[in-house]
Amino acid sequence: PKKVFSGIQPTGNLHIGNYFGAIKKWIELQDSEYDVTYCIVDLHAITLPQKPKQLTENTLKLCANLLACGINPEKATLFLQSEVKEHSELCWILSCITTMARLTHLPQFKDKSAKLKEIPLGLYLYPILQAADIMLYKTNFVPVGEDQIQHIQLAQHLTKNFNNRFGYTFPTCQPMISEDLSCRIKSLRDATKKMSKSDPDPKSCVMIEDTPDQMTTKVKKALTDFISQVTFDPVNRPSVANLLTIHSLTSNKSIETICEEVKHLDTGQYKFVVADALVEHFNPIRLKVEDYLKNPDYLQSILEKGNDKAREVAEKTIDEVKAKVGWGLKA
Ligand code: TYM
Repeated sequence: PKKVFSGIQPTGNLHIGNYFGAIKKWIELQDSEYDVTYCIVDLHAITLPQKPKQLTENTLKLCANLLACGINPEKATLFLQSEVKEHSELCWILSCITTMARLTHLPQFKDKSAKLKEIPLGLYLYPILQAADIMLYKTNFVPVGEDQIQHIQLAQHLTKNFNNRFGYTFPTCQPMISEDLSCRIKSLRDATKKMSKSDPDPKSCVMIEDTPDQMTTKVKKALTDFISQVTFDPVNRPSVANLLTIHSLTSNKSIETICEEVKHLDTGQYKFVVADALVEHFNPIRLKVEDYLKNPDYLQSILEKGNDKAREVAEKTIDEVKAKVGWGLKA
């Protein structure tokens, strides 16, 4: 079967951008004909400084969040990147066939490094490691949000490079990005920016684990514009369009239906409707997260099983790659 692979960083809690942009698709794909593998990418996490204890905690929390959202370890391989050393090995090999020029212009590197005085080399290598993740499992499809498109393109480029130089080894992966606006959920405080866990303003980002009160407060304080009607116009009214998108995705109603239903409300009143829909959808998930977190041994056992399964595939690929590169003593 064709292979699906994707990853997520354990750098904070899961937010509704991650959920609608990627995780929802991850869950759908479990029931497809594809072979699906999802990875908690803790090697990527340390490209920016992390407190060690917190990183461990975030890893288990993310695992709990993913299971609560509906990732089913019987159907999907869910594993921890740092437990499969082949990711680092392939990353090194790929870094030797990548030019510096190809990396410098990638927008995520530009954004993240612009805020730093000293730029860690790992942050620069970040997209190569991501390509290694994808290629190691001979991935065909990568379900991600729109912000990852350039990284997927680098993986395609490195696949071509590797295959040309060493003979056909890797299939060319294709991104799976939803057509609708779920591929880019915006910040509640500034709809020109994506919703992001690294946003310093906690009100910008709705977490899966937020309590009903926290969710309601954040949505109530979402910045909107000076027009009181609720209309869908992503270009001129991105903040209201973002609320409508979030509402539509949570309630499974079309944006037109919603606009019709709330035409007697102003945007201030409408925010309460959105908040209620969010709470209704995510509160049961939040309670499941709490339950999973009471049982860290179970979470560990899920990841350990996943690690073993992932390792088996990764080892096979690396053996093949090493032989092609000319490593080892077997002529
Ligand atoms: P990360 O951890 O930042 O995000 C995980 C997934 O969530 C999506 N996403 C969004 N989608 C819509 N709107 C948003 N506001 C939003 N914010 C985040 C991301 O697109 C992503 O799909 N580099 C990756 C992790 C990674 C990876 C991989 C992904 C490492 N190796 C291999 C695919 C394949 C990242 O930082 O995701």
